[in-house]
Amino acid sequence: MGAIFMADMQYRRCGKSGILLPEISLGLWHNFGDGADMSVCRNMIARAMELGICHFDLADNYGPPPGSAETCFGRLLKSDFAALRDEMFISTKAGHLMWPGPYGDWGSRKHLLAGLDQSLRRMQLDYVDVFYSHRPDPHTPLEETIGALVHAVRSGKALYVGLSKYPPALFNRACEMLREEKVPCLLHQFRYNLLDRNCEKAVLPEVEEQQTGAIVFSPLAQGMLTGKYLNGVTEGTRAADTSSVFLDADKVAADNARVAALQQIAVQAGMPLTQLALRWLLRREELTSVLIGARTVAQLEQCAAAAGQAPLPQDVLDAIDALP
Ligand SMILES: NC(=O)c1ccc[n+]([C@@H]2O[C@H](COP(=O)([O-])OP(=O)(O)OC[C@H]3O[C@@H](n4cnc5c(N)ncnc54)[C@H](OP(=O)(O)O)[C@@H]3O)[C@@H](O)[C@H]2O)c1
Repeated sequence: MGAIFMADMQYRRCGKSGILLPEISLGLWHNFGDGADMSVCRNMIARAMELGICHFDLADNYGPPPGSAETCFGRLLKSDFAALRDEMFISTKAGHLMWPGPYGDWGSRKHLLAGLDQSLRRMQLDYVDVFYSHRPDPHTPLEETIGALVHAVRSGKALYVGLSKYPPALFNRACEMLREEKVPCLLHQFRYNLLDRNCEKAVLPEVEEQQTGAIVFSPLAQGMLTGKYLNGVTEGTRAADTSSVFLDADKVAADNARVAALQQIAVQAGMPLTQLALRWLLRREELTSVLIGARTVAQLEQCAAAAGQAPLPQDVLDAIDALP
């Protein structure tokens, strides 16, 4: 496939680094595993690049089964997108369960560096743009985890490093250690959406303090913030998919009253709830990018349309804040 990087996307600088990321990035947690239709996956990557969504976020355990999203992405890169490697920004992560025994999980040097090698093999890449510690490990010394990230960069297997789901104090210490090694943390990755504002108290202020980039996941609360579950769970959605344990009918039911109230605000503001949810996140200048998931090209396009829009009016922001 030839050069198709011709977008009207808005890009934001990642902290104090040289890297710009699109306001909307595409994550491959779901929808690129073994059950996925490769032609749909190919079309999503091609359309993402057309829209200027050049950042693709993976992890070793994405699928299902674990590893299969990287394998799918690697095959497509090789067959269709090899010429676009330098126009793409590709991340992966290690730190969740991948193989049996004491080295298949968490944050040891042994696990992280073996995990990175396995990811590179699955994606058929020489290097990734960002390698993350996927989660903090309460039992491994932070120095060891950070040392593994530093080694990943010094060995040329990653250009930058990131941290995912680190609580504020640990994030601060990790950033300081990385800075001392002259391998600064590029990005912090954490959950933020209209149903989960926990990061506003401490995580966002720490990101600003450390001057790193910030990329937030599950911006649509795994689809709930599209309003698609307001009348119950239908087939062909993540909540109906028994291979995903992260969203089900009970979780949907627990949040539906709040989603309905947000839907009302979106109607009054004259926009789909999906737009409201993504534009509400993009109001925060500390955020470099909002990391969506998509099952179809149409979903991807609807999400991409939130980039580059005017700030939400103050009365809409106030109505959201006034919700119980
Ligand atoms: N660091 C971490 O620990 C961590 C954790 C979670 C996620 N992540 C990253 O963040 C990315 C995004 O997370 P996420 O998948 O939870 O994001 P999300 O954008 O909140 O949810 C994606 C799901 O929402 C639905 N959706 C999206 N656009 C839609 C639209 N326009 N209309 C109707 N439904 C729509 C689709 O669900 P259906 O399948 O129902 O159609 C899609 O699979 C992941 O791929 C991964 O890269 C990282």
